[in-house]
Amino acid sequence: MNPKLRQRMEKILAQRDADGLLRTLKVRSATDTRVNLADNDYLNLSHDSEVIAAATSALNKWGASSSASPLVTGYTELHQDLEKTLAQWHGYPHALILNTGFSANTAVLGGLPKKGDVVLADKLIHASMLEGILSSAATLRRFPHNDLDVLESLLEETKESEGVVFVVTESVYSMDGDCPDLSRISKLKERYHFCWVLDEAHATGWHGLTGSGMQEEQGVRASADIVVGTLGKALGAQGAYVLCHDVLIKNIIINFAAEFIYSTYLSPASAAAALAAITCTKNLTSERTRLHQLSQDWRKALQVAGFAVPDFHSPIIPLIIGDVLKTQHFAEALRSAGFIVSVIRPPTVPVNTARIRISLRRGLDSGHLEKFISVLKGVAQ
Ligand SMILES: Cc1ncc(COP(=O)(O)O)c(C=O)c1O
Repeated sequence: MNPKLRQRMEKILAQRDADGLLRTLKVRSATDTRVNLADNDYLNLSHDSEVIAAATSALNKWGASSSASPLVTGYTELHQDLEKTLAQWHGYPHALILNTGFSANTAVLGGLPKKGDVVLADKLIHASMLEGILSSAATLRRFPHNDLDVLESLLEETKESEGVVFVVTESVYSMDGDCPDLSRISKLKERYHFCWVLDEAHATGWHGLTGSGMQEEQGVRASADIVVGTLGKALGAQGAYVLCHDVLIKNIIINFAAEFIYSTYLSPASAAAALAAITCTKNLTSERTRLHQLSQDWRKALQVAGFAVPDFHSPIIPLIIGDVLKTQHFAEALRSAGFIVSVIRPPTVPVNTARIRISLRRGLDSGHLEKFISVLKGVAQ
C-alpha cells in the first residue's frame, strides 16, 4: 500500500471513530428470527410466496443475470413489462427501470439540470438526490424541511430566471417519515411552471388506494413531472424506476446517464419479483387501512410513554433521542429484547438528532408494540 495513502486513510477513519461515528458492517444471519424494525420491506413482500415463485421462474428461464447493459442485451421482455405496469399503475405514459434508487436519482438530477438552472430542494432530501444535484452545474438552493412558504418565496425570487427551475422533494422522507403538502406543490407548479422531481421511494406500497404512493393518497396522481420510485423497499425486490410525462426525459437518460449506459442491468429475476409484488400490492387496499392504523397506534403509544414522535401514518417513525451514545444504549436494549433496530446518526441526519428509525411492517401486532414500549421505558427509568 502506498504509505501516504495509508496514513491519510488511517487519519480519516481515526477521526470518524473519535467522533463516535465509525460505520461498520454487521452480518445478518438467515436464522435471525428477531422482529425486523430496521429494513424497508414494509409489506413483507420479499418473502411472499408469489414474489419468490415469480423470481424463481424467471431465474430458470433467464438465468441469474441480465449479463449486459440495457443498451446491449440486458433489456428483456420482463423489464419492458415492468415499465408498462409501473407507468400504468402511477398514471404516467413513460417509465424506465434503473438498477437502484440511488442511481435513478443521480441520473435524473445529475443529468437534467444544467448551468444557469436553479434547483430548489428540501433540506432533508436523500443523499442520492443531493449527489445528483451537486454533480450538475446548476445552482442549489435549499428550503427548510417541508416549509412550502419558503419554497414559494424562492419561486417568486427565481421566477424571472433565464434557466429552468427544478423543485426537488420526497413524498415520505426517509429518516423522518413525514410528507409535504403535495397538492400545494402541485398548485405552485401551475403558477410557476417549474419542473418537479418527486422521490416516492418510501410511499410506494404503503400509501394510496392501489398502493402507488402519496400522489395517489393526496389526490394529485401524476402531478410531479418526474417521479423516482424504488423496487427494493415495500415492493420487496431490487432496483428502481423513473416515471415521466415527456418521453424526452426517458430518452435523455437512455442516451446520457452513465448509471444506465455503463452498468449490467437489473437481473430479470428482480424484474419478475417486482412485477409479482405490484400485483400483490394493488390487492392490499384494506390491509393498507390497517397499516395506517398500526402506524398511528405506535406513534400514540410512544407519545404516551413520553417520546416526542410526530403524528402521521407512514411506515417510518423517527424516535429521536439526540445523543449518539444514548441512542445506542436504547438500541442495544431493544436488540437484546428481540428487535432488529438501526441507529441513524449524523451525518445521515442533522447533528444532535441521532435516532432509532422505526420501520413498521405488515404482521406486527399489539404484543410487539407492548414489548417495544416496555423496553424503552426500562431504559428511560
Ligand atoms: C428517499 C430515497 N430515495 C432513494 C433511495 C435509494 O434507493 P435504493 O436503495 O434503491 O438505491 C433511498 C434509499 O434508502 C431513499 O431513502
